[in-house]
Amino acid sequence: MLLDLITNRRIVFFGGKGGVGKTTVSAALAVAAADSGKKVLLVSTDPAHNLGHLFNRKIGATPVKLAPGLDGLELDPEQTVRQHLDEVTRALRKLMPVHLSGEVDKHMALSRDAPGMQEAAMLERIAEVVEQASGYDLIVFDTAPSGHTARLMALPEMMSAWTDGLIKRRDKADRFSAVLNSLNRDTSVGDKMLGDESDDSEEDRESRIRRLLNRRKQRFAGLRDALSDQRQTGFVIVLAAERLPVLETIELYAQLQQSRVDVAGLVVNKRLPDGMLGFLADRREQEDIHLQMLQEKLAHLPRKDLQLAAHDVLGVDALRAFAASF
Ligand SMILES: Nc1ncnc2c1ncn2[C@@H]1O[C@H](COP(=O)(O)OP(=O)(O)OP(=O)(O)O)[C@@H](O)[C@H]1O
Ligand SMILES: [Mg+2]
Repeated sequence: MLLDLITNRRIVFFGGKGGVGKTTVSAALAVAAADSGKKVLLVSTDPAHNLGHLFNRKIGATPVKLAPGLDGLELDPEQTVRQHLDEVTRALRKLMPVHLSGEVDKHMALSRDAPGMQEAAMLERIAEVVEQASGYDLIVFDTAPSGHTARLMALPEMMSAWTDGLIKRRDKADRFSAVLNSLNRDTSVGDKMLGDESDDSEEDRESRIRRLLNRRKQRFAGLRDALSDQRQTGFVIVLAAERLPVLETIELYAQLQQSRVDVAGLVVNKRLPDGMLGFLADRREQEDIHLQMLQEKLAHLPRKDLQLAAHDVLGVDALRAFAASF
């Protein structure tokens, strides 16, 4: 059964190369889990959202009901980046002197398209979903093709280190400005802060900045802890029995290991049935050759092979039947 792969984990990510069946398999598992009595949230982090097509309905940034016990959510990268940058801009305005307002705006305009920005924003939303989804027994993430997801999984560590660095730098700056202040009581050391024309004391501002940095740090640290706790979180790699998906799976596994994300298992999707003749038998044999390489490298991982269905898998009933056939 497909559900055996995830045992009692609460957070499950599905990743793998483009087109191998991540959306189909994650949705089938979500439907099966909901049928087994769990309250399930299915979340797409793929910018090219396909959940809506699969369930034949509009799914957005707030959960909608897809089946009894199953809600769906599509995290919108554009909206996520906008929200994320607004928050960062507000924070920067509190940190920077008034005369640098032009610089802040220029920096933020450039940041919008900076490499990694979508991932950072997406990660913040994932952290929020995990934080806020306490009403669900299972959260299933359907992710974008491999490279994107591997970077995403490595990010909590980087973001924690980054906010840590900022906090330390603030500490140093605090000590420095305390010395300056004591040397130079009459001159105004710090300029007035952007958006901060009120009479806020230096201490108020400092504690606000510190609270903000600490909240971010906690959020990323919380997600990092959740991701690296294998009783709670697992990653399922979906692949096809072809050369490149096999190679990419081996690589993705190594990257996930490095990010301390436990791989719960492998799903080899779209396998040709056994016992075919002629061309199809040759092709099936070719699949076995590719899977031997997988077996050599990742034999220790639980593996499920799913057959190529004769018809498209679309809608809740088809997903239920698809999940039940394994
Ligand atoms: N076992 C299967 N049998 C038949 N068709 C399948 C099977 N698994 C997936 N498909 C079909 O293959 C196509 C790609 O599947 P899916 O969208 O789930 O892949 P994906 O990995 O999520 O793709 P992307 O990387 O674009 O997000 C879809 O048309 C889907 O219906
Ligand atoms: Mg998909």
